[in-house]
Amino acid sequence: MTSPCPKPLVAHTLADLQAQGLPRLDAQLLLLHALGQDLHNRAWLMVHDTEEVSEAALQSVTTAAQRRLQGEPMAYITGHKEFFGLDLLVDARVLDPRPDTETLVDWALEVLPPQNAYAPRVLDLGTGSGAIALALKATRPELTVHATDFSIDALEVAHANAQRLGLNVSFSQGAWFSALAPDTPRFHAVVSNPPYIAAEDEHLAALTHEPLQALASGADGLDDLRHLIANAPAHLLPGGWLLLEHGYDQALAVRALLHDAGFELVQSRQDLGGLERCSGGLLQT
Ligand SMILES: C[S@@+](CC[C@H](N)C(=O)[O-])C[C@H]1O[C@@H](n2cnc3c(N)ncnc32)[C@H](O)[C@@H]1O
Repeated sequence: MTSPCPKPLVAHTLADLQAQGLPRLDAQLLLLHALGQDLHNRAWLMVHDTEEVSEAALQSVTTAAQRRLQGEPMAYITGHKEFFGLDLLVDARVLDPRPDTETLVDWALEVLPPQNAYAPRVLDLGTGSGAIALALKATRPELTVHATDFSIDALEVAHANAQRLGLNVSFSQGAWFSALAPDTPRFHAVVSNPPYIAAEDEHLAALTHEPLQALASGADGLDDLRHLIANAPAHLLPGGWLLLEHGYDQALAVRALLHDAGFELVQSRQDLGGLERCSGGLLQT
């Protein structure tokens, strides 16, 4: 009689995943996910390193590891991404929100006026998972936050995140400002992280798992930024700010577009890596 194959232990499974080429952190997070454990609690793996991994968990982590090795973002595999302290549900219908975009949120929080008789109003165009809009609402609950996207799929994700987090953000679908009803009051700030990669840019080839309409924007990557800058003045209150994320080499061009459109106090902000990745300006009073 042959004895049944012993189940692998947590420690062995982790070592196996790394031997397949996964970085240690990815291996830990994928195993925690397969085991149904909290992704923040990596210490669990050390405390339980001699526990057996069930057949189902092993199969699940093997599939997840294959997806990761093929370049799929961790966020799509685990279904979660932390952004500005919020646990967002994400999948392949939306861009995987980047930590660098938190720079845009910080900047918006600086320029939005304090609450007076009226709640300050902010618009997030191309909201994707809802990351920017939800971070603003979570930090300043008194804000009136509206978010749009061209993609119905993305709006479903953003709406589900808002509901799950109990954050009251309104959403509408359509191409940039045309998503707004004609009688929509003007905003104190318009923020956007639009697509900004040039159609022929070699970096696009590496981003095959994310929706193309979230990434590419014409021959020089500036088509959507040009549109947003040209049309924002009609939707901003006097003294309102337009804040835009863009590519690492686009700050000069975006500042020039903002100047040409009549914005004042035009400036850029650096992302976590020290690159100028956001530019904005104030609509004169
Ligand atoms: C770079 S992603 C940003 C997503 C999200 N704001 C974030 O920072 O993670 C750009 C978003 O703009 C949306 N988008 C692309 N073209 C659009 C258009 N013409 N009108 C409105 N939204 C558009 C895409 O669907 C996508 O969700």
